[in-house]
Amino acid sequence: MCGIVGYVGEKQALEVVVAGLRRLEYRGYDSAGVAVISDGRLEIRKKAGKLANLETLLGQDPLPQSTTGIGHTRWATHGGPTDHNAHPHVSADGRVAVIHNGIIENFAELREELQSRGVELASETDTEVVAHLLAEAMPDSDLAQAMQAVCHRLEGAFTLVAMDPHDPTTVVGARRSSPLVVGLGEGENFLASDVAAFVEHTRDALELGQDQIVVLRADSVQVLDFDGAPVEAKPFSVDWDASAAEKGGYELFMLKEIAEQPKAVADSLRGRLDAQQRIRLDETQIDDGVLRQISKVVVIACGTAAHAGMVAKYAIEHWTKLPVDVELASEFRYRDPIVGPDSLVIAISQSGETMDTLMALRHAKDQGARTLAICNTVGSTIPRESDAVLYTYAGPEIAVASTKAFLTQIIAAYLVGLYLAQARGAMFEDEIRAIMQDLSDMPQKVDLVLDTVEPVRALAQEYAEAGSVLFLGRHVGYPVALEGALKLKELAYMHAEGFPAGELKHGPIALIEDGVPVIVIVPSPRGRSVLHGKIVSNIQEIRARGARVIAVAEEGDEAITPFADHIIRVPETPTLLQPLVSTVPLQVFACELATVKGHDVDQPRNLAKSVTVE
Ligand code: M6R
Repeated sequence: MCGIVGYVGEKQALEVVVAGLRRLEYRGYDSAGVAVISDGRLEIRKKAGKLANLETLLGQDPLPQSTTGIGHTRWATHGGPTDHNAHPHVSADGRVAVIHNGIIENFAELREELQSRGVELASETDTEVVAHLLAEAMPDSDLAQAMQAVCHRLEGAFTLVAMDPHDPTTVVGARRSSPLVVGLGEGENFLASDVAAFVEHTRDALELGQDQIVVLRADSVQVLDFDGAPVEAKPFSVDWDASAAEKGGYELFMLKEIAEQPKAVADSLRGRLDAQQRIRLDETQIDDGVLRQISKVVVIACGTAAHAGMVAKYAIEHWTKLPVDVELASEFRYRDPIVGPDSLVIAISQSGETMDTLMALRHAKDQGARTLAICNTVGSTIPRESDAVLYTYAGPEIAVASTKAFLTQIIAAYLVGLYLAQARGAMFEDEIRAIMQDLSDMPQKVDLVLDTVEPVRALAQEYAEAGSVLFLGRHVGYPVALEGALKLKELAYMHAEGFPAGELKHGPIALIEDGVPVIVIVPSPRGRSVLHGKIVSNIQEIRARGARVIAVAEEGDEAITPFADHIIRVPETPTLLQPLVSTVPLQVFACELATVKGHDVDQPRNLAKSVTVE
């Protein structure tokens, strides 16, 4: 949610900053803006809409050369997506330019206070108050000191990056609960919401902690707390290169990321068995003795990550006999969740920065729970604040709609479940090894789905004009149905809903009328065959009312043939692993439908990749 870039060095700042914004545009695309310092003055260009609009403006009205600059791509919260609400915002005296990600919750009172002192505000944003407050603090202090003073006055979550033309070779950043990382170059340094912005220049980075300020110059990086005391920041290195964040010959990031799933699954499984063939989770720092005392597991996550958690619930309960609750993180802390020292709270997040999940995690920690993060982004806040972390190795996910992250989150959550079962003696070691063997077959099976998925595109074209699409599943097929519906909503802007197939008759079946397409995730007939039989009955109930049934069914499941209008085949897979294959055609279906409708698949309307506001 909002992408931020800052640069100080020897290169032309504008080029570095705009290239960085291009890589961060998935974080928000309501407007974009840049600022550089030239001849002791701030020079700003900003424009509503996508980055391309800003680039056109820069072509018509070029910026002067400068080696210090900042840039922003916005997901609007306070104030519409207009030119004047675009960042950077400048203080009335032209002394400070600031960009911001997050929400300043006390902005209304700060705004009134500024107005009472005669300050005129030029935008409706919460950000602009920061520019004026910084300028007011500046006569007696430098920008870093002013930033400390102002941060003490702000409530909410924020990343701020600012420049002062009186100190033209310095950029100052600050963070509370919103993402900001430092890129360390040779004679140049970077600030960004995530490493994608600078990975083409350097893979050496610094994590910033909560309530920290960073003073960036070409040859130094100084990290301070909000009281100005120096802080040691943790270095890390990025384990992928710039090409991983490029389309690599694909038309869309989403298509590339769908195709990368076999590798992402294989990478997330690699090295998880030790010499004794026991599960090893290197990054997990919770003692086995503690895990033996756990009496419940709670998964907190949002959107697709929550669906991965729902899939994992079936497996972890089956393997460990521990109760598993899956909670939407945005709801978690606003009731009275029963968690404590005997709870293992698993936060699942691709970005590691989702504010709802972060706040739920903090709430769980306050209750004394043990916390474990499943995350795809090294150096992000959620793993940093968890007791233990298990990274997924999906590589950067750029398309706003999550695909490879989902599959790898399921893999990671399954590894946690098996590890728990092993630590607690809930399963025999040969049982665990057999499941690990099944998991190791999955990259090849996902590959097989990708090889045979072409007819799904034709199907998507056939249903492009449907008013609504329903998705049904049972057991692990239910969260897959939810995920299929979410993909269709966010990409094709169609009404789509996922239901547990057995629940339909309790109300939603009233939605069925002649021709309504219903995608049914059919359980394996070889698993709990009773589930297969039940879903066949559910299919008959909806067909009797005119539904057109698209079944996602296993190879060799001939019993389903008479009951479906179309069948999408997936390879034979153990029941608990079926989501890893049955989700893939639904991703392709949504992607194709959105393409047919002419939508921007990688950057769907109203959305942003990393949701860093509550
Ligand atoms: O980065 P996270 O995994 O925490 O993100 C959670 C959701 O915002 C995310 O999965 C969202 O639902 C996706 N756009 C769905 O495709």
